[in-house]
Amino acid sequence: MRNEDPRPIRLKDYQVPAFDTHEVMLDIELDPKATRVHATLKMARNPASTDKKAPLKLDGEKLKLLEVKIDGEVLGANRYSVDEESLTIHETPEGDFTLETVTACAPEDNTALEGLYLTDGIYCTQCEAEGFRRITYYLDRPDNMAVFRTRITGDRKSEPVLLSNGNPVKKGKTKDGRHFVEWHDPFPKPSYLFALVAGDLGHVEDKFTTMSGREVTLRIFVEKGNEDRCAYAMEALKRAMKWDEERFGREYDLDIFMIVAVSAFNMGAMENKGLNVFNDKYILARPDTATDADYAAIEAIIAHEYFHNWTGNRITCRDWFQLCLKEGLTVFRDQEFTSDMRSRPVKRISDVRLLRAHQFPEDGGPLAHPVRPDSYIEINNFYTATVYEKGAELCRMIHTMAGPKRFRKGMDLYFERHDGEAATVEDFLNALADGAKLDLTQFKRWYWQSGTPEVLASGRYDAARKTYTLKMSQVCQPTPGQRVKEPFHIPVAVGLVGPDGKDIPLTLDGEEKPGAKTRVLHLTGREGTWRFKNVPEKPVPSILRGFTAPVKLDANLKERDLVFLMKHDSDSFNRWEAAQRYATNLLTRMVEAAKDGSTPRKGTAFAEMVHDLLSAKKIDPDFVAQIILLPSEQTLAQIIGQDVDVDAIHTAREALRLAIATHAKDALLSAYARMEVTGPYNPDAADAGKRALRNACLGYLAAAPGDEGVRLAAEQFRHATNMTDSIAALSVLSHIDCPEREEALATFHERWKDNHLVMDKWLAIQAMSSLPGTLDEVKRLTQHPAFTMKNPNKVRSLITSFASANQLRFHDAKGAGYRFVADKVLELDKLNPQVAARLLGAFKSWRQFEPKRRKLMQKELKRIAGTDGLSRDVYEIASKTLA
Ligand code: TRP
Ligand code: ZN
Repeated sequence: MRNEDPRPIRLKDYQVPAFDTHEVMLDIELDPKATRVHATLKMARNPASTDKKAPLKLDGEKLKLLEVKIDGEVLGANRYSVDEESLTIHETPEGDFTLETVTACAPEDNTALEGLYLTDGIYCTQCEAEGFRRITYYLDRPDNMAVFRTRITGDRKSEPVLLSNGNPVKKGKTKDGRHFVEWHDPFPKPSYLFALVAGDLGHVEDKFTTMSGREVTLRIFVEKGNEDRCAYAMEALKRAMKWDEERFGREYDLDIFMIVAVSAFNMGAMENKGLNVFNDKYILARPDTATDADYAAIEAIIAHEYFHNWTGNRITCRDWFQLCLKEGLTVFRDQEFTSDMRSRPVKRISDVRLLRAHQFPEDGGPLAHPVRPDSYIEINNFYTATVYEKGAELCRMIHTMAGPKRFRKGMDLYFERHDGEAATVEDFLNALADGAKLDLTQFKRWYWQSGTPEVLASGRYDAARKTYTLKMSQVCQPTPGQRVKEPFHIPVAVGLVGPDGKDIPLTLDGEEKPGAKTRVLHLTGREGTWRFKNVPEKPVPSILRGFTAPVKLDANLKERDLVFLMKHDSDSFNRWEAAQRYATNLLTRMVEAAKDGSTPRKGTAFAEMVHDLLSAKKIDPDFVAQIILLPSEQTLAQIIGQDVDVDAIHTAREALRLAIATHAKDALLSAYARMEVTGPYNPDAADAGKRALRNACLGYLAAAPGDEGVRLAAEQFRHATNMTDSIAALSVLSHIDCPEREEALATFHERWKDNHLVMDKWLAIQAMSSLPGTLDEVKRLTQHPAFTMKNPNKVRSLITSFASANQLRFHDAKGAGYRFVADKVLELDKLNPQVAARLLGAFKSWRQFEPKRRKLMQKELKRIAGTDGLSRDVYEIASKTLA
């Protein structure tokens, strides 16, 4: 907790560390109240540092220092100084020396879940980004890489399993009846990749033979009794290992790969070398407890953490400003993996949905920052949608520009040049430019200019000359700290769709032969013009196919063009996009009408599309499930952008749902029947797609007049044989004030009250209900035995779901929702600043709401910012959101 306003850390101040750590030996004796850590560090001055006189200043927080030795000699108190954040040794020997410290920390009191903590009786660590300093004094920065040996001593009964990174090299009993295991990790690594886990854990085991024929042992550790819920995670891991070999030529490098699932965890998972630690939500799955979405998330996150072994661990980051170097690239890799395992278009649609829901508002609001930020107060606040998701989009653009083969060459060169190093974004871009033979000079701006570029496109057909001229221009609004933007290098995939619905081969002016039907154009200036020849008839342009760049496109399309594209575009993404845009235009007209009481111009094309798609003989259920979904209330608010009226948005969207349900009722009913999946549950994309479509139909049917929807939902809830169908039915009922709702919630609770992950779903569904009593219900649920502020999953299920996924009720007209969430932020800040700061993100778009709500939100933000003793995390978000 801070005393004065904390100072930002800046990229331009980067200096190499004054000292190097070559080897680390940790001797850790576990104890809930006082874990003793004896650290032996082999160190020397860093020859690359220009500051040859700097004292040795080690990071350390919440540690009790018991002893300091250099080269075996105990240091008197006059030879070092200690404060809240560091230990400074005034003088160190020339050449190599050995520093030993003995410290104590208290895992039991650690509610921040950074460093060493206890969760359900299991010791576990979380060191990224700066948690290692809560375990021992250290140069806790990623460019300080060392070889670790870790000896863990614990109780034989309560901690039979003692794990750390690398390979186990020694084990035995101690004189006082405890036991120890010693681990050795041969790969030099930064401290943020250190991990330790100890407890009475069960495990499942498997094997993987790498492409060079080495056998790797795979183990997943879970709380005893959960071993039957690890099979899917294990299969996903093996698929990921194989895929990284085939697609990127990357092989696993240790003899053992371990994953541990714990219930209290700040994020999704962590890629510690050879010992990934996971939020158990992303490991444990059984058909009756996990939904299709859970299975998909498990597959993606298992892959993500595994892929970090090369993009993050073997090549790590020089400093935390380079975070996107590992995260953006690894997200891109996991997205590609999922696209290969499942449906590529559906994956693209859901990734773009996510980008628009989280990253665009970030880029357009007070917390906007570049993919590579240039300053931060608390690095934990920069694990953002911009660094992760937009970071992945930047890698995807390079991939688009290079094509798969040349991209692979670039990646190969990156691994060849930088394996074993702590690298920078420039290193990555240089390797890609050289290996893939690309000019990335202008493209680099994407890494340091924040904001979402807006691209305007318009075309003109010349019937006499048979040419089509496409003009595109770009602008980017100012963002905090960046008033003027240089033009971005934007790759735009374009197609021209003829009146028959078929793509026209594209021949640019000056070209001999017709080219491909989709071509990538490079918009590099503020404006650009392209002329296509031999265009026989007036086409409809399909711009930004596959969403080749993270921009906001205005393609100037008429309603009838959108209707045409949503029927005919050969690019699935743009087909979906045309439908979304059509619905958005219609909904914004309806919102205006809801505000002033007029009648909007009717648009029936969406309802007709729903009807036609559902009635078609051959359909791709997964894709249809995506295209028939209306944009969310949040998305609409964001597109409207100013003076947002949440009630009008809700009213308009419900009215459109009713219109669609009424128009397409028969088709909805028949698809609902046809999409039923029989036989044993299979989480694969094919079956999951059918369930997704069937449940989307159920959602519409519940909006149709009459109570058939409620009846169907209640019936589905009673007969569901898997969690996907059960939760979908419960979710539909949760918005309807009826006896079936209360009964289903009670039944669900009774059946699952002992399963903490399923109870998270029960909490979230109630928090997201559109019924007027939701806030009171959420307040009541904070007292429910299934809820605790000490577990981040519980906080996210109940409070974050309410604040960030229930626009209608969070934005209560009197400000009761804001007050409640602000109180929870302050309460949580004392326990877990990282999670508190994330929850506060719910206020980030406060300026876009109508004046009354805007003032109420601002008031709560000011109340938070003015509170004494705030963490750096919450202080930074509150002050920047208000600025
Ligand atoms: N590096 C992790 C990942 O993306 C995420 C991470 C960062 C994290 N900080 C964390 C996880 C703190 C848990 C707690 O894979
Ligand atoms: Zn990651």
